Amino acid sequence: MRDSLAAAYPWLKALHIIAVIAWMAGLLYLPRLFVYHAAAPGGSDRAATFEIMERRLARGIMLPAAAMTYIFGIMLATVPGMVDWQRGWIWTKLGLVLLLTLFHGFLERWRRDFAARRNTHPARFYRIVNELPTLAMIGIVVLVVVKPF
Ligand code: HEM
Repeated sequence: MRDSLAAAYPWLKALHIIAVIAWMAGLLYLPRLFVYHAAAPGGSDRAATFEIMERRLARGIMLPAAAMTYIFGIMLATVPGMVDWQRGWIWTKLGLVLLLTLFHGFLERWRRDFAARRNTHPARFYRIVNELPTLAMIGIVVLVVVKPF
């Protein structure tokens, strides 16, 4: 079991990165859809189209991609001897992953508000929050690749 997990390590990493890319695509694109949705008149055909696009992105891509990121990430983390748990980068990375997960939760709340026609935030708000996952992603990639501490 231990050996086969270690042999599968590069494959697990490849699957982890594929899932991360799909998750990040959603985390970056959903708030961009909210920017346009917030500017569309409530109850219009345009607003209804955004609602469908948002639901499909959230349910069809983001949720499965987040689950796969976690599943393959946890499998990587539990291969014995592969991560030095004394180092700081892994814990900082996991902290940033937690923030991305919280961000995902907020996006889901705002998506439901749009669907119920209860959105209260202006387009500018979504334009600003759109930058947050970019910052977290830059931090995570530098941490996992450079492992600076
Ligand atoms: C529960 C969530 C996660 C866990 C437990 C996890 C765990 C891991 C582990 C143990 C590795 C191997 C590190 C190494 O061998 O050097 C890894 C690699 C990687 N992770 Fe994650 N990860 C998670 C989420 C994420 C997220 C959200 C991102 C990006 C936004 C990400 C990006 C990467 C990248 C790019 C690599 C490849 C680094 C390399 O070897 O070059 N991970 N992850």
